[in-house]
Amino acid sequence: MAPPSVLENCLEDSNSETCPDINWEDIGFSLVPTDYMYVMKCAKGEKFSNGNLVRYGTFEISPAAGILNYGQGIFEGLKAYRTEEGSILLFRPEENALRMKAGADRLCMSSPSVEQFINAVKDTVLANKRWVPPAGRGTLYLRPLLMGTGASLGVGPSTEYTFLIYCSPVSNYHKGPLNFKVEEKLHRAISGFSGTGGIKSVTNYAPVYPATTEAKAEGFSDVLFLDAATGKHIEEASACNMFLVKGNAICTPTTDGAILPGITRKSVIAIALDLGYQVTERPVTVEEMLIADELFCTGTAVVVNNIASVTYKNTKVEYKTGSETVAQKLRKTLLGIQTGTVEDRKGWTVRVL
Ligand SMILES: Cc1ncc(COP(=O)(O)O)c(C=O)c1O
Repeated sequence: MAPPSVLENCLEDSNSETCPDINWEDIGFSLVPTDYMYVMKCAKGEKFSNGNLVRYGTFEISPAAGILNYGQGIFEGLKAYRTEEGSILLFRPEENALRMKAGADRLCMSSPSVEQFINAVKDTVLANKRWVPPAGRGTLYLRPLLMGTGASLGVGPSTEYTFLIYCSPVSNYHKGPLNFKVEEKLHRAISGFSGTGGIKSVTNYAPVYPATTEAKAEGFSDVLFLDAATGKHIEEASACNMFLVKGNAICTPTTDGAILPGITRKSVIAIALDLGYQVTERPVTVEEMLIADELFCTGTAVVVNNIASVTYKNTKVEYKTGSETVAQKLRKTLLGIQTGTVEDRKGWTVRVL
């Protein structure tokens, strides 16, 4: 008889049924260590195989690893949602798998197949199912990483790749009303194939810390980046896409290599069209943002959230917020599909349990 798989062992673990004694709503978006993480490796030029669940914790890595020396790494973010009936759903995980593959191709990395990615996510959720918060009180955030872990001194693609998924229960990403500041000095990315803003490269995030740190010290929730070529168009915030509403029309900046093609963004566009709104993807100027009725951001972590104000060149512009906004209507439908209370007519959800 075959030995029990790691997943079976996890599920038999006495701890796996015990509900953690934590106040789910207080977690916010900070790391809560869970029980297991998923690890799968492959040598350069080969295919990933034989992934395993291992106890969550620190792991060994060569000081000469590609990820540590040359930033050869990408990540993903998706959530597992508990329904009222107690089952667990994922939202469009194949989109995360495909985006990871696009990023891996761009950075010359091997990547898991879509099937391997989804199965690994499912195994990680099942092994940590006691950490999926009850319906309406939060979600289990999953963080797949793909990194060059082979050792080499010279600049070049790594000789080994590691795919790892860890997770943490989360509740709200932002606290209170969102007040954004337009960043005029630092740009997040450049457009076209030369840019890496369109993939979730680990190297995209730290370079804008000076801007986000300064904005947060001034009391802002986040910064809004402008295009590097002209500084006239809005792009995105540090981890979410942007939309504006004027009358019945919704528009969002085109993803042209500089902006991450968000899965929430894509889903919100589809939901808005279904609800009868006119939606356009095109370059959006700062000027038109300043005269919009409503501004909102989208992302796995932030869901769909109204932006209460934007400050540009020391002038603060306020926008409509509250339950009657377009953003809140879109948020309600999206969250309903994700948590199983609104019929999933598009086949976006994948049941794990
Ligand atoms: C830079 C950036 N933009 C947008 C998003 C939103 O993407 P998604 O809706 O796929 O979470 C994220 C988060 O993944 C991000 O890091």
